[in-house]
Amino acid sequence: MIVLGIETTCDETGCAIVKGGKEILSNVVASQDDIHDRYGGVFPELACRRHSEAMIPVLDEALKKAGVTLQDIDLISVAHAPGLIGALLIGLNTAKMLSLSLKKPMIGIHHVEAHLYAALMSQKEDVIFPCIGAVFSGGHTTLVKMHDIGHYELIGETIDDAIGEAFDKTAKLLGLPYPGGPHIEKIAKEGDISRFTFKAGKIKESPFSFSFSGLKTSVYYAVKGLGEAPLEHSIKCDIAASFQEAAFIDVISKTLKAAALHGCQTIVFGGGVTNSRTLREKFAAASPGYKLIWPNYGLSLDNAAMIAGLAYHRYQKQGKGDTLDLEPYPRVSFTLEI
Ligand code: KG4
Ligand code: ZN
Repeated sequence: MIVLGIETTCDETGCAIVKGGKEILSNVVASQDDIHDRYGGVFPELACRRHSEAMIPVLDEALKKAGVTLQDIDLISVAHAPGLIGALLIGLNTAKMLSLSLKKPMIGIHHVEAHLYAALMSQKEDVIFPCIGAVFSGGHTTLVKMHDIGHYELIGETIDDAIGEAFDKTAKLLGLPYPGGPHIEKIAKEGDISRFTFKAGKIKESPFSFSFSGLKTSVYYAVKGLGEAPLEHSIKCDIAASFQEAAFIDVISKTLKAAALHGCQTIVFGGGVTNSRTLREKFAAASPGYKLIWPNYGLSLDNAAMIAGLAYHRYQKQGKGDTLDLEPYPRVSFTLEI
């Protein structure tokens, strides 16, 4: 089965062609970092405009790279939740138009669930359920118990900022480009993790919830406390290292506690922050005996291959496509049935 995936939830326009659930024939992503950099975050209106310009060229490129034509596509899939409403609509309407004109079924996919599937499609063997799913991205910080593909139980999520958002905001405070994660990781290598005592939030009555807005504010006051002059490079490196350490200690400890509580030896990861080699190394060092399943590096960040791969499974399960009145959902958890 040849599946077309479409991804436009935030600031990447993606199209991919995937055979079955795993074999990636092409995976094209048009990034918009250039237009959002000056705002230090995603400017929704500009994101939508760029999606509408990029959609068809990205689709053409994905077909060409895969060596297929539109007539070869058996299933059309699209991320229809969660995300920026205008951005979601561009992908969803493209999928509907293709489904209608090609008379092929269409499936709507939850973007965050697909981030976890990206790790599953990255490995040859099938994972043994139940396991812990951990999504660390620019919009989400979520722990779930995965009972099967499509069956999840929420363990914890962020009550304010997502971890990736905290990286992006910290980068902005340090004058680094957007998206900030990779830049923080890079300069943190030269920094001293103990120079600043930053901490991510803990919620007493909800031990698996995350909170990063206080951490971001501590960075803000640390920067402010250093005065008006431009920060020296070595201080930026120390702030980046101390911030990254605090964020990673928090997600590692909560994920491992959740795994112990739920008796799971396997952890499946997803989301842009898992692109960090530092995070992967720290997790491995902190969790001997656990099986850690990471997405291939090309599948950590937003992409359409994970959408197409997951759609293959959803279609097998449903036995039919979704109806053409499928709606976009800007805010909805994948642990709930839409
Ligand atoms: O999953 P993603 O592409 O988009 C969302 O669904 O949100 O994640 C993007 C996020 C950004 O916040 C970016 O700064 C972060 O992933 N990120 C990183 C690294 N690479 C990307 N964060 C920390 N370290 C990295 N190396
Ligand atoms: Zn994402």
